[in-house]
Amino acid sequence: MLDRLETANWLDRVGDPLQRGVQAVLRGRIRDVLHGVWLGHPLHPALVQLPIGAWLSTAVVDALPGADRTATVLTGVGTAGALPAVAAGLNDWASLSREQRRIGLVHASVNVVAVGLYTGSLIARLSGNHHLGRRLAYAGLAGSSLGAYLGGHLSYRQAAAVNQAEAFLRQIPEGWQDLCAQDALAEGKPFRASIGEVPVVVTRTDGAVTAMIGNCGHQTGPLGDGELINVDGAECLVCPWHGSTFRLSDGVVLHGPAASDQPLLRTREVGGRIQASLP
Ligand code: FES
Repeated sequence: MLDRLETANWLDRVGDPLQRGVQAVLRGRIRDVLHGVWLGHPLHPALVQLPIGAWLSTAVVDALPGADRTATVLTGVGTAGALPAVAAGLNDWASLSREQRRIGLVHASVNVVAVGLYTGSLIARLSGNHHLGRRLAYAGLAGSSLGAYLGGHLSYRQAAAVNQAEAFLRQIPEGWQDLCAQDALAEGKPFRASIGEVPVVVTRTDGAVTAMIGNCGHQTGPLGDGELINVDGAECLVCPWHGSTFRLSDGVVLHGPAASDQPLLRTREVGGRIQASLP
C-alpha cells in the first residue's frame, strides 16, 4: 500500500500547491530555525516527543479511576505541543523529493485529524464530558499512531531527513588519497573529483584548498555544481538543489534544509597533486 502511495501522482494535485504555499509563508531565518540548523539535527523528530509522550500518558491515565483532571492537563499539553511539531514538519516536507512528499502528505493529513480529535477531546473534558473526551482521545491515539508509522516509513525506508553524506565517509580508505592535479583547481570554482566511488568537491578560495563530500547531506544534491558565495565573511558552498549552504572552512551548515554539517576531508599538496584523507 505504501509503495502505491509513493507513486500516487494524484496526491500531487494537493501536494504541489501546498508545497508552494508553505515555501511562500515560511521564509528566511524561520525556515532554518524550523529545520533545526541551529541544533545540528532535524527539529521535527525532537518536537514530536512532547505530543506523543503526553498523548500516550493520557491513554494510560484515562484507564485509571479518578484521574480526569490529570488526563485533561495531559491532553492540553499534547495538543499545544503538536503545533510547533506541525510547523517544523511542514517546513521539512516542502523540501522533500516528490515520492517522499506523497507519503509525507498522508502522514501530515492523518496527524492533522489526530490533532483535531485531541482538540475535540480537550473541549469535551473542559465542558465536563470526560466520557466523550476519553473516546475522542483514544481515536486520536489511533490516528497519531498511524501518523507515526508513516513518519517511520519516511525516515527509515525513504531516508527523509537522514544525513545522506555521512555514509560516504565509511567508503574512504585510511591514509592519503589522490584527488586531482593542483593546476586543475580554479580560484572560486568547485571542482568535481572522487575517491573510488565517493564524490568529492574540491575548492580553492584565497589559496586555501578544501575537500568536501560531494553529495549534499540533505538529498544528495551535486555540490560540484553548486555556487561559491560569501556569508558574513566566510566562503560557503551552496547546494544547487535546495540551497543548503555549507561553510568551506569546517563544513558547518549555515542555511538549511540540511540540518547536519557536510563532512570535510583533510587536504595536502604533494608534488603538484591534491590529496585528501579522512578527518
Ligand atoms: S540536496 Fe537539498 S539542499 Fe542539497
